[in-house]
Amino acid sequence: MQQAGDHRVREAVLFSSSNYLGLAEHPDIAHAAKEAIDEYGVGSGGSRLTTGSGKLHIEAEAAVASFTGYPDAVLFASGYQANISTLQALASPELTIVSDARNHASIIDGCRLAKANGATVVVTPHRDVEAVDKALSTRTTEYALVVTDGLFSMDGVLAPLSDLYKVTDNHGAWLMVDDAHAFGTIGATGRGLPEHFGIRPDIQLITASKALGAEGAFVAASEPVAQLLRQQARSFVFSTSPTPANCAAIIAGVNLLETNPNLV
Ligand SMILES: Cc1ncc(COP(=O)(O)O)c(C=O)c1O
Repeated sequence: MQQAGDHRVREAVLFSSSNYLGLAEHPDIAHAAKEAIDEYGVGSGGSRLTTGSGKLHIEAEAAVASFTGYPDAVLFASGYQANISTLQALASPELTIVSDARNHASIIDGCRLAKANGATVVVTPHRDVEAVDKALSTRTTEYALVVTDGLFSMDGVLAPLSDLYKVTDNHGAWLMVDDAHAFGTIGATGRGLPEHFGIRPDIQLITASKALGAEGAFVAASEPVAQLLRQQARSFVFSTSPTPANCAAIIAGVNLLETNPNLV
């Protein structure tokens, strides 16, 4: 057993982390984070809606929107916050949310909050497109949103995103993909499941905490959805925004991915 003061080190290879591309230790990214601390200090000093919106938050959002091809992207302090707050903010008694049974816990918790806002939530069996089709065709609300992990964190399989896209399109519903694990790892240039399948869901959630090696998450969407989130997403409004160093690391990570697609 190792005792205090015992400095023997055993080398091991870590396969269980989400730092898929090793960017958490990349020297260019560490350098960008250090420079941001020197220029802007350590803490962001407030929530985005109060005093916590800085140049680097805006640049990080612009970098991700441009990289993914969405009109806008909203930065949250974590993927957990992004999921719960997006689903809660979009919820109303006029919305049905259709959620895969193996979706990430943050989607499940987001659905619970959405229910509290009056939305109907239907949980469909894992990757069951027919069940999604049925849930959409029998819904009693005007609006519907299908939400799915892209690359499922529970079992490592891909969502049937092409088929889900067709079904949502047929039923006038929206499609939201939580691309936490596919961003940076799937698609010819690492743009995730939408790139892999050649489609554009209404909302793509990207975490900076996995392949980008930092922390935080982006909800990439249309301008109206992004503006709604900036006003209504409770963890955006009521929680301190990500640090300058973290934003600089994200910007450097996205630049690195863009200029080195062979990393994917
Ligand atoms: C699919 C999925 N969504 C969201 C999250 C939450 O992201 P974060 O760790 O940035 O809160 C995770 C991982 O933790 C995840 O696996």
